[in-house]
Amino acid sequence: MQNERNRTLNIVILAAGKGTRMYSKLPKVLHPLAGKPMLTHVLDTARQLHPSKIIVVYGFEGETIRRQYSAADLLWAEQHEQLGTGHAVQQTLPFLDDVGYTLILLGDVPLIEAHTCEQLLVNNENEIVLLTVNKANPFGYGRIKRNEKNNVVGIVEEKDASVEERQITEVNTGIMVFPNQFLKQHLIQLNNHNAQKEYYLTDLIDIATNNSLEIKTVLAETDIEVTGVNNRKDLQLVERAYQKIIAEKLMLAGVTLADASRMDVRGALDVGQDVSIDVGCIFEGDNKVSDDVVIGAHCYIRNSTIAAGTTILPYSHIDDAIIGEGCRIGPYARLRPDAVIGNDSHIGNFVEIKNSDIGMATNINHLSYVGDSTVGNQVNIGAGTITCNYDGANKHKTVIKDGAFIGSDSQLVAPVTIGENATIAAGSTITKNAPDGELTISRGRQVTITGWKRPKKASS
Ligand code: UD1
Ligand code: CA
Repeated sequence: MQNERNRTLNIVILAAGKGTRMYSKLPKVLHPLAGKPMLTHVLDTARQLHPSKIIVVYGFEGETIRRQYSAADLLWAEQHEQLGTGHAVQQTLPFLDDVGYTLILLGDVPLIEAHTCEQLLVNNENEIVLLTVNKANPFGYGRIKRNEKNNVVGIVEEKDASVEERQITEVNTGIMVFPNQFLKQHLIQLNNHNAQKEYYLTDLIDIATNNSLEIKTVLAETDIEVTGVNNRKDLQLVERAYQKIIAEKLMLAGVTLADASRMDVRGALDVGQDVSIDVGCIFEGDNKVSDDVVIGAHCYIRNSTIAAGTTILPYSHIDDAIIGEGCRIGPYARLRPDAVIGNDSHIGNFVEIKNSDIGMATNINHLSYVGDSTVGNQVNIGAGTITCNYDGANKHKTVIKDGAFIGSDSQLVAPVTIGENATIAAGSTITKNAPDGELTISRGRQVTITGWKRPKKASS
């Protein structure tokens, strides 16, 4: 596929580094940022640019990385030994198109945005474009060297830089664009005669100026977009900065946040108007929250849909659930996968619901377990009711029809059906279907033994 710019674009993502400073079994680029691996963030950005090819350079724990990404649009170039960024790009030579140009992205610079990359892609065939940034503290980065005409003449790495060069605050972000022709001709000329004994990609700048190619630079608008993650401190820094961006977008879209710095979105959060979210909430996966929903403090919500006007009270845990309009959930409610709650229903504290359809205006207010059940409309389930859905080998279904009233502390041993408007007396163990409209009771009758005496302690 040709990109909009009508020239072939290849994208190379460098992801072979071990990430020693993460002190982790997991390859660095698989560490999650806002719930998804850093490499996925970079891939998502790369795809927005419609390249003809995306080539990932992998090395350390490469199979772990490849297994996670089965997408057909990716090409994989293995770098057996990590001999430097230039050596990494050399591994992609067999894949690069003969024409067009290549954008280099880094697997550990996750917040780079497509619109910034676009600015690098307006080059012509004889230009190299570097994304640079000004750092108050440029320590560790390659410094951009310019001549008296302000033209770029090279990049010098921290470890190779002189004292004067180390004063330079404009640094290399590592993100750059090269014409493919140039890479095909000159990548093989790199050597490792430097302090780190590595093949530096950045040495191509020196080679380019000797071949009278133009070097252009684009200055990154924000620091965070080009921040590289080398250790878990950086990861946390980037995570918080990214969460701040998400929180700001939500607020500008009409959501009230009690504290923008005390909420986490790890995935997609689709919100209506006048949604209000208290502190400490975590949203994972794909969530949809409609108008006027109020979410109390410290709720965990994953892959769920919450319809308009529903209130989620503090400390609720909602996973893969669908909640109707005008419901009241929690505090301390737990909705497990495939819990579907009808409009105007109440699910109260310490109530666990799993794989169950709950009707409209039904109340399950205290300390209950409802699993593998279909519960009708206007049902009342008393405190401490349990659906005994599991016989040790198989799961069975409980059906509770409209208008039923289940007295507190009842056990409904599935498979079982409670009829319409049936009443179950408190403390019953129901093992057979209960008919419509009748009272069903299954418990020992209460008797009083008159004149009974408590035993006395035997005297020694
Ligand atoms: C590199 C740049 C430096 C720049 C900095 C920005 C070079 C020589 N230096 O330095 O100018 O300021 O990035 O963060 O390019 N990688 C491989 N294979 C290798 C070595 C690295 O795939 O053999 C990958 C890493 O996984 C990482 C990226 O390349 O994603 C950068 O490598 P890193 O070692 O962090 O480069 P720096 O020394 O920080
Ligand atoms: Ca290095």
